[in-house]
Amino acid sequence: MCGIVAYSGSRNALPVLLGGLKKLEYRGYDSSGIALNDNGQITIRKRQGKVSELISMLDSDSTLEQATCGIAHTRWATHGPPTTENAHPHAGGKGDLALVHNGIIENHRSLREKLTAAGYVFCSETDTEVLAHLVDLHHKGKLIDAVISALREVEGTFGIAAMSRHEPGVLVVARRGSPIVLGLGREETIIASDASAIIKHTRQAIYLDDNDIALIQGNDVEIQALDAGPVSRPTSQIDWSSNAAKKGGYEHYMLKEIFEQPEAIRNTLRGRLDRNRGNALLSGLNLSPRELSELHRVLIVGCGTSMNAGLVGEYAIEDFAGVLAEVEQAAEFRYRNPIVKPSDLVVAISQSGETADTLAAVREAIDKGALVSGLVNTVGSTIARETGRGVYLHAGPEISVASTKAFTCQVSVLLMMALKFARSRRMSRDAGCRFVEEIEAIPSLVEQVLEQNDNIAKVAERYVEQSSAFFIGRGYLYPVALEGALKLKEISYIHAEGYHAAELKHGPIALLDENVPVIALCNEGPGKDKTLGNVAECQARKSRVLGIVTQGDQEAIAALDDHIVVPASPPHTSVIPSTVALQLLSYHIARLKGCSIGQPRNLAKSVTVE
Ligand code: F6R
Repeated sequence: MCGIVAYSGSRNALPVLLGGLKKLEYRGYDSSGIALNDNGQITIRKRQGKVSELISMLDSDSTLEQATCGIAHTRWATHGPPTTENAHPHAGGKGDLALVHNGIIENHRSLREKLTAAGYVFCSETDTEVLAHLVDLHHKGKLIDAVISALREVEGTFGIAAMSRHEPGVLVVARRGSPIVLGLGREETIIASDASAIIKHTRQAIYLDDNDIALIQGNDVEIQALDAGPVSRPTSQIDWSSNAAKKGGYEHYMLKEIFEQPEAIRNTLRGRLDRNRGNALLSGLNLSPRELSELHRVLIVGCGTSMNAGLVGEYAIEDFAGVLAEVEQAAEFRYRNPIVKPSDLVVAISQSGETADTLAAVREAIDKGALVSGLVNTVGSTIARETGRGVYLHAGPEISVASTKAFTCQVSVLLMMALKFARSRRMSRDAGCRFVEEIEAIPSLVEQVLEQNDNIAKVAERYVEQSSAFFIGRGYLYPVALEGALKLKEISYIHAEGYHAAELKHGPIALLDENVPVIALCNEGPGKDKTLGNVAECQARKSRVLGIVTQGDQEAIAALDDHIVVPASPPHTSVIPSTVALQLLSYHIARLKGCSIGQPRNLAKSVTVE
């Protein structure tokens, strides 16, 4: 999704901005651009395509090397196709100001009509150019006053950075629904929509709140709330090392993050399991013993991979704690006027902590009076701050667009939640201690799957040519089938669907033939025999079936065309090694197909629009 970088300080702004844009590439984008303010002259350069193409275009432009203030952007097209004209920055008026914007201006049509009537001429189809001209319309004195007036007319979401040629060195940044973080340097401020663009320069950061607007010049930062005057926001320390956000010798971030999972899960679990009391600590949930025992229902909301993790949580919480649990797509929850009670705990799952639909679901649940907690990876993100209570994943930065380690860490936390809720009810201390051991074994289960990377790459060779695939599973392995299919389609562009194994014959089986393989989760456990029955049904329709099987299960191996083994584990923890096996399978299929794993087409890392 779109990314913003801006700089005001004493250094040459250009390399800082371009370095920042490179760091934001992982978020997904289709054009990029910069604007530099060199003592009253604003120069804008932008380009459809990759940041590297923008950089080559700038190579011959030595006029840009003096500026110490600038703004830059990677655009993920929403309004208008991904062309150079639609790329940001956009100039306001006759070029007196330049602006970059993340988010969507919902009333852009009516504003465009008003501005056209006032004589403004548009060069792009974007809602951002509307905002740039609107700021210009109000630009009679200070830029910040013009931005405030313009933002009062705007409906929708924004993270913006703007500068005027009349105020060299000055940046105005603001946010509503789209993150902005200010990186505080010694004589400079680096602004970005994502901390990964600033950690090379500083770890001291201020996260703007919704409706904050900041005036920045060098290291001077003044923040005000749009309608309430000056405010002070806390400074936090970004705890990611810059190495954590590098590829570290792996060909793709996705592979690096798949291999990081044992360590990431250990970090998620660290200090949160009590072996003696057979319980999980999770103090961040901040639930009093009374709230815990009166918990009526756990409502889990999220999108995509995070929602798939939520399904595992639903199963485990009902299974072990006997507490009603439901998962709902955040986008649906926010609009359908759900019934939520004060004794309900709403758990919002989000790697980025910025997903627009999940954030809106959080706000809806807060308005309805529920207990609301976040299960978030990105420290200081909007969902983490607005929920106020919850559990950080501590998975480290997830750069790959295709989510991997966030899923396995989310499931690890949800299992700990199930344990905590169960222990506050009927689960005995002994059973709790066994559960703790099972959770603690997860990182080693993942390591055993990672050891099979070469073998999984060989299996992948047999599935590269297919254009469609089904993933099936039962019980805890049903969410794994959903997640396996999501991963495959995202990065290999093979059409893939995840189904409950029993559902296949209620329609989708019509599509099976020798060109449509089935990937079946056949791990030892309660549903295995029935799933093997479904495997036979698929093979009878000539589908090739690849099974995930428990190590040593010769019966399952004999029933399958291909197999990948995972170590034995109870059903609720087998989710994690099985998912890791499917992550590697998708990765290798996409790699063999030559797909752009780092930047899958049409996808964005953090989906901050509806
Ligand atoms: C899939 C993927 C997406 C995200 C979804 C939610 O690989 O990454 O499906 O899981 O966009 O994102 P977060 O977790 O940041 O809210």
